[in-house]
Amino acid sequence: MKKQVIPVIAPLNGEIEIPSDKSISHRSVMFASLANGRSVIKNFSKGADCVSSLNVCRALGLNINYLDDKTIEVISDGQLKAPAAHLDCGNSGTTMRLMSGILAGQNFNSVLIGDESLSKRPMKRVIEPLSMMGASIISKENRAPLIIEGHQLSAISYTSKLASAQVKSCVLLAGLFADGVTSFTEPAKSRDHTERMLKAMGADIKIDGNRVSVSKSKLKPLNITIPGDISSAAFFIVAGLTVPDSEILLENIGVNPARTGIIDVVRRMGGTIELLNEREEQGEPVADIRVKCSSLMGCEISGADIPRLIDELPAIAVLATQAEGVTIIKDASDLRNKEADRITSVVKALKLMGADIEERSDGFIINGKTELYGGCELETFHDHRLVMSYYVAGLICKEPVVIDGFEWSKISFPEFETLMEKLKGG
Ligand code: S3P
Repeated sequence: MKKQVIPVIAPLNGEIEIPSDKSISHRSVMFASLANGRSVIKNFSKGADCVSSLNVCRALGLNINYLDDKTIEVISDGQLKAPAAHLDCGNSGTTMRLMSGILAGQNFNSVLIGDESLSKRPMKRVIEPLSMMGASIISKENRAPLIIEGHQLSAISYTSKLASAQVKSCVLLAGLFADGVTSFTEPAKSRDHTERMLKAMGADIKIDGNRVSVSKSKLKPLNITIPGDISSAAFFIVAGLTVPDSEILLENIGVNPARTGIIDVVRRMGGTIELLNEREEQGEPVADIRVKCSSLMGCEISGADIPRLIDELPAIAVLATQAEGVTIIKDASDLRNKEADRITSVVKALKLMGADIEERSDGFIINGKTELYGGCELETFHDHRLVMSYYVAGLICKEPVVIDGFEWSKISFPEFETLMEKLKGG
């Protein structure tokens, strides 16, 4: 579906509540499925990716019911059942990589499949450690479909070259079913929602810097209210900073330090961003975020910053076009392995709009501040974050832009346009 984005002529103003965190939603339904008892999950994401996780859990025999449009109950005896059909992960890498860790240690076989984009994404990163644990996973060139023959697993101590929460979570989940102590060490800290949630559910889990260890554990049911997704808030943060005279309040955002790289970057660029009403809900920090249109300057984003803002980089690239001077984004080569190659695609789209941006193997160099002209049609390669990043860029272009594939925003954020319209009229 093609969507024309008309540049805004008035500031964005008002307050909106950002919908549920995708990473925490995935984990909540999967981990509740492994617990013995009834879990109640409030503010479960309506995004298609999280619904893929929910459907995979249902296909594994779980009784999962909607109590209202954002609350689910998961009723489990702690045992998954052999699925009658292939398990469809849709577009969701998190579903496929985390479920592969859960399924490798079961006493039945299963097949994980995905859509065209997911079937091209690298799975060696999970197949390798799981195979070291004794798992049997058959695939063609380490891509989905993944045929998993369930086996008793043995613990490993794994040192990962990638700072990836999906790989970390996969190994830790397999570790819940393995004999011995499984440990995972990563080069920089990736999001730790798995560790926090497993701990809250009574798992035997220990954290020592960038090393996490887990032993075979039985999980207690989960009762959680999921906070808003900072990765969804990112599009509004960028819009609020760049649309002249805007001031917006984003309510109820998860501000886990492993996810707040974008807030640090906005401050580094000289932008006005404030955390208000900071609190903790079920082991996860939460706050409201106020952002005001600001003069920005370029900065460097690299190293340990990257896992803390990996999903926000397309939106941050848009922001950097409006900052004076050079912004260097490096050490982010894994951006090429997301739903699309987010380095090549962002460079192509922002150049078309009129930005001065250069492609690097592991990131971008952006020279600002440039006026964005727009007046072009943008390809989005079935990638929800590209869609919403380009939409925000379209708001500050001189001429309208057309976004091809706008419907992919439903993967993480079906409410995106409605909330943007609310701020336009605010
Ligand atoms: C996620 C981890 C990140 C992120 C993805 C969600 C998670 O992926 O890009 O959108 O929920 O664990 P990697 O672990 O591959 O970096």
